[in-house]
Amino acid sequence: MNSEIKYKINKDKCINCGLCVDICLVYEKISSKVDTIHPNLCIECGHCESVCPVNAIEGPEEVKMICEDEQIPTYESLQFLLQTRRSIRRYKSEPISDIDLQKMLEAGRYAPTGSNEQNIKYVVINSHEKMQELSEIALPVVFKTFKVAKKIASLPFAGKILGKKQAYRLKNIYGPAITIFEERNKQGEDRLFYNAPGLMVVHGEKQDEALAFSCHIAMHNCVLIAQTLGIGCLLNSFALMAINQSKVLRKKLGIPKENKCFGAMTFGYKNINYKKHVNRKPVNVNIIE
Ligand SMILES: Cc1cc2nc3c(=O)[nH]c(=O)nc-3n(C[C@H](O)[C@H](O)[C@H](O)COP(=O)(O)O)c2cc1C
Repeated sequence: MNSEIKYKINKDKCINCGLCVDICLVYEKISSKVDTIHPNLCIECGHCESVCPVNAIEGPEEVKMICEDEQIPTYESLQFLLQTRRSIRRYKSEPISDIDLQKMLEAGRYAPTGSNEQNIKYVVINSHEKMQELSEIALPVVFKTFKVAKKIASLPFAGKILGKKQAYRLKNIYGPAITIFEERNKQGEDRLFYNAPGLMVVHGEKQDEALAFSCHIAMHNCVLIAQTLGIGCLLNSFALMAINQSKVLRKKLGIPKENKCFGAMTFGYKNINYKKHVNRKPVNVNIIE
């Protein structure tokens, strides 16, 4: 048996009910006795310990939260949170408190990750001055990318390169929007970070598809908890693009070259209140029964 496995069955307590066998491949029931058969498959998700009705599986952590169904938010309160979340582009200038920042990061910490790898790396800027320094480096990168994009969109065979729909969008929607974006920034507006005092970036190993997925989930966990704290967030693909394209920015943020940023968002205490829910298109779903 792999001595590294962190979850042990206490045979004195185990009632051989097999619940751990149902939820995890590490355990098997042989001659009506449950045992640890494939310890090398353990990803330390803790499901075995959580499910055991008699606390016979002992894990590495001493403090455990007892989960009672009635403690989880109701459907209505969670749906309300989801429905009232908006992208926030107006922030108070002061950075968020350390306690609130920790709360946001805790929300990310409890996000699921592929194979329970818990391999998301965070970088957080929580200072207006530092954000301004970053903006000075990021803006020229964004402008340069836009310039290239606009050039491609104006080519007669742009549709072949980008696909018809994307070429149309770039020419007729993004192109003009980019022009306004550039003008407004030149006039002193910050259309990139929107004067946010904070930026959160999630990154990890470049080739890891599952990690990209995990990063998106974790970042959105942070967004939702932020909302309960009066903190507004803006998932920010312009910032993401600039960071992934600029060695200088990546160095400034301490992101190694073998890593990729999978998500970026600006945040700060919000300085705007949306009074109305937003409408969305009907869900485009194919339910197969
Ligand atoms: C992946 C992603 C990237 C986004 N990037 C930007 C961005 O770079 N700049 C921006 O102003 N808004 C950005 N947004 C915000 C969207 O425009 C916004 O979510 C959408 O218009 C719906 O509005 P709501 O979030 O307030 O409901 C982004 C949103 C998502 C999900």
